Amino acid sequence: MPPMLKFAPLLLALASLSTLAAETDLTAEARQASQRLIMTLGGELKASMASSGPAKSLAVCKEQAPKISAELSQKTGLKIHRVSNRNRNPEAVPDAWEAEAIASLEKRLAAGEKPETLEVSTVVSAPAGKTFRYAKALVTQPMCLICHGTPEFIPESVKAGIASEYPLDKAVGYGPGMIRGIISVSKAL
Ligand code: HEC
Repeated sequence: MPPMLKFAPLLLALASLSTLAAETDLTAEARQASQRLIMTLGGELKASMASSGPAKSLAVCKEQAPKISAELSQKTGLKIHRVSNRNRNPEAVPDAWEAEAIASLEKRLAAGEKPETLEVSTVVSAPAGKTFRYAKALVTQPMCLICHGTPEFIPESVKAGIASEYPLDKAVGYGPGMIRGIISVSKAL
């Protein structure tokens, strides 16, 4: 056997180990970026709900989410956005990987897993190249239900705002502790 071939399995093992290590690092980065988005947006939303009320706060979710995501993307080189299988923003539709991620996270939540640990990450191979993908579940808390809950939780002013801004809204009818959507993070490798 030529000496190069003798080492081939070792080299392959090393290569796959380093891919694994890179994936672990990216997962940590994606998790951190997602937590920043949750904390920053949640903080701004809470402050606005308290000072201006829920109807005026609809705009916070609309304007701040993409703004904070864009800032985080610039800092980290990761693509970050929010999507939902019952979307409010007509563009927040999950792609095939994201739809599968939501379905699997819903199963894990139903099986009793803690909301804060609900995430998936993987490297997807396609003819165009490899992409790192990550999803973190956004689970409803009581505050979310003012704009995403069943009709009795949503003030009339909020209902009117949703009807005029989002005529195709699918993002109501949630109870507490449900997956409202995901933060989806990706990076071309
Ligand atoms: C003040 C009302 C309000 C509150 C409170 C609120 N949201 Fe939203 N949410 C919205 C609006 C409006 C949009 C659409 C924003 C846009 O145009 O992109 C939205 C969009 C989203 C999206 C993006 C996907 C989609 O459906 O467009 C997710 C995910 C989401 N909300 C989760 C939550 C969670 C989780 C909470 C509680 C922590 C929450 N929201 C609280 C109003 C609200």
